[in-house]
Amino acid sequence: LSFANPFKIITSTADPSIDFHAAFAAKKLLWQPWLWKNESKLLSMQTEFANYFGFKQAFGFNRGREGLFAILKALNIKKGDEVIIQAFTCEALVAGILWVGATPVYADIEGDYNMSPETLKPKLSKKTKAVIVQHTFGIPANLAQIKKLCDDNKIFLIEDIAHALGGKDPRSGKFLGAIGIASFTSFGQDKKISAQGGGMVFTNDSALAAKISDLWGSSGFIKTSTAVKKLLKTKIFYMAIRLYYFLSFGKLLIFLARKVGLAGRPVEKIASEKLSALSNQDEKQLIKKLHPLQAQLASAQLKNFDSTEAHRQKITNIYTTSLKETALKISAPLLRYPFITSEENKRKIVRKLKTHHILAGEWYTEPILRFGTEWEILKYKLGSCKNAEEVNKRIINLPTHKLVTTKEAYAIAKIINTIEE
Ligand SMILES: Cc1ncc(COP(=O)(O)O)c(C=O)c1O
Repeated sequence: LSFANPFKIITSTADPSIDFHAAFAAKKLLWQPWLWKNESKLLSMQTEFANYFGFKQAFGFNRGREGLFAILKALNIKKGDEVIIQAFTCEALVAGILWVGATPVYADIEGDYNMSPETLKPKLSKKTKAVIVQHTFGIPANLAQIKKLCDDNKIFLIEDIAHALGGKDPRSGKFLGAIGIASFTSFGQDKKISAQGGGMVFTNDSALAAKISDLWGSSGFIKTSTAVKKLLKTKIFYMAIRLYYFLSFGKLLIFLARKVGLAGRPVEKIASEKLSALSNQDEKQLIKKLHPLQAQLASAQLKNFDSTEAHRQKITNIYTTSLKETALKISAPLLRYPFITSEENKRKIVRKLKTHHILAGEWYTEPILRFGTEWEILKYKLGSCKNAEEVNKRIINLPTHKLVTTKEAYAIAKIINTIEE
């Protein structure tokens, strides 16, 4: 494997979506303090995103989970109600459900890493009010049949497009997120568009939009100084991951950024947060709009979105055609490319890729990826979703973002094929 640039580190967690244009936009914004608090920039960004992905309305929130909370609240989902999500997910999503006081119920995944009509059906009960479909890694779930099940049982369908922003439903040709009554995405640092945190709700339902708008409108912002730090982090990481091994310059830069509190985890831990129904007071403190500075950072990436998606599609196709053992015959611009192997080969592959400066992703090592939260709080019973728990042990995620060249993707496939032989 010969790298065009031997200095970089290839990782899917540390801002892979921040390209030259986004980093340049961040730098420019740092010198334009008059734009930092300009709320009209958030409004125009919301319109841009709604138009781009074909939705009537879009609302920017401080995190994806806060957007989900707004959707559930607007749908009047509350204590005593059940919301079905899939196992093989992240606890961030569960927070939104617990915050309205509802109970999460877990459906198992199938070979496409998504829940299916078959795994969903046995989880439906009289208390079920909503189903959240995840489109894991950007792989479209079986929306047509799941939607029918929801309609037949008068249950709301919500789409989590945190991994799948910009993807299309192969049957209807619609953007993912447009079949459910509402959808939400995340602008976390490991997502297709990074605003160093943030999220967005989309809907075509005017009545629901009016309710979400009320909640959104009465929310505040995070501190501008915090948003500026996020922008600074964008700049520093852009440089650091490209010069990671250059006299360890990037490594040192990241170490220092962490020391001064500029860099955190890709998904904020929620173990320290309240994980039960929010009072009005809690809600005021916790639910925030997307900061205008972060909105501008996301907006800069939207300008380039077509080209980054084309790249993800190209790399996905290389893995699909070059890996000898892959069940994945899907053609979609994946956020990460999942590969299943034995536990022993997983260790070997991870180790080998690391020697080539590539960090394999780990979504997900647990049925619900946790940051210290008890299973009991998340209402997950170990052993209840067997497929998810089996996949947890054997999966690795390969990068598809712009830091991976086509040549490197072929080389990654070759390394894996050799180990698998
Ligand atoms: C599938 C999925 N849904 C939702 C979220 C929530 O995102 P946020 O961290 O913006 O609340 C995440 C975060 O990683 C996720 O992976």
